[in-house]
Amino acid sequence: MKDTWQGRRAVVVGAQGSVGQAICDALAQRGARIVAMVRRPYAETPAAPAEVVLSPLGDPDAVLAACREAARGPVDALFVASGAYAGGATAATPSETYLRLMWTNAGLPFFLLQGLLDPLQAAGGKAVLLGALAAEEPRAGQAAYAASKSALHSIVRSAARELQGTGARVNALLPAVIDSAENRRAMPQRDPTQWVSPKRLAELALALAGPLADDLQGALIPVRGAL
Ligand SMILES: NC(=O)c1ccc[n+]([C@@H]2O[C@H](COP(=O)([O-])OP(=O)(O)OC[C@H]3O[C@@H](n4cnc5c(N)ncnc54)[C@H](OP(=O)(O)O)[C@@H]3O)[C@@H](O)[C@H]2O)c1
Repeated sequence: MKDTWQGRRAVVVGAQGSVGQAICDALAQRGARIVAMVRRPYAETPAAPAEVVLSPLGDPDAVLAACREAARGPVDALFVASGAYAGGATAATPSETYLRLMWTNAGLPFFLLQGLLDPLQAAGGKAVLLGALAAEEPRAGQAAYAASKSALHSIVRSAARELQGTGARVNALLPAVIDSAENRRAMPQRDPTQWVSPKRLAELALALAGPLADDLQGALIPVRGAL
């Protein structure tokens, strides 16, 4: 893989989230071609990447159709920064919440890989997914969330085995807590300097999609910040 992003084409899913946006910014600074896969239109055209795949991403058929659109050009990198969180005791978790988390954190990434692994392999590209440390170290009230991210981690490890012997790579970053506006609002009593910033996570994600990660396959990398 070339040691440059100039002209390389990267698909970013969840491109409007805190980490997805930071990944897009970092890619844009390096001259990459960005394909943003999003479920709602950008408010301002100048803020939107040149290529936008707009899809509800709500079921396998929609995801696979979006992947076909994204794969109209080479897929040198895939960043899956979409995800959802909900906490709550197992006894009190509504079935809709459980199913939404399982779809967003496991189903959507599974069908993204199903739709994009072939073009990634063709380009010798790298996929980087955002898991969660909470799946490895679940706390009370995180059963549904941790289960959904655990499923994602297993998907990454298994897909990595499938890719053995090819030039393509799939790895994941497992953040503890991200210093996002939403977390600052939700946890005003906590010290955000302990958390990892979206910008630093984006730099790690780009490193995992670059030549530094040529020998990595199926890695689940904890990103704790100062926690
Ligand atoms: N925040 C944390 O402390 C934390 C900790 C550990 C792991 N993570 C993981 O790290 C990643 C990035 O987190 P973040 O803070 O950037 O999250 P974020 O700001 O909430 O962004 C999440 C993105 O995912 C998209 N999304 C949510 N549900 C979706 C669905 N069903 N279909 C398609 N897109 C969907 C959202 O789209 P809309 O903009 O349209 O809503 C949004 O762009 C996520 O995978 C998250 O689970 C986060």
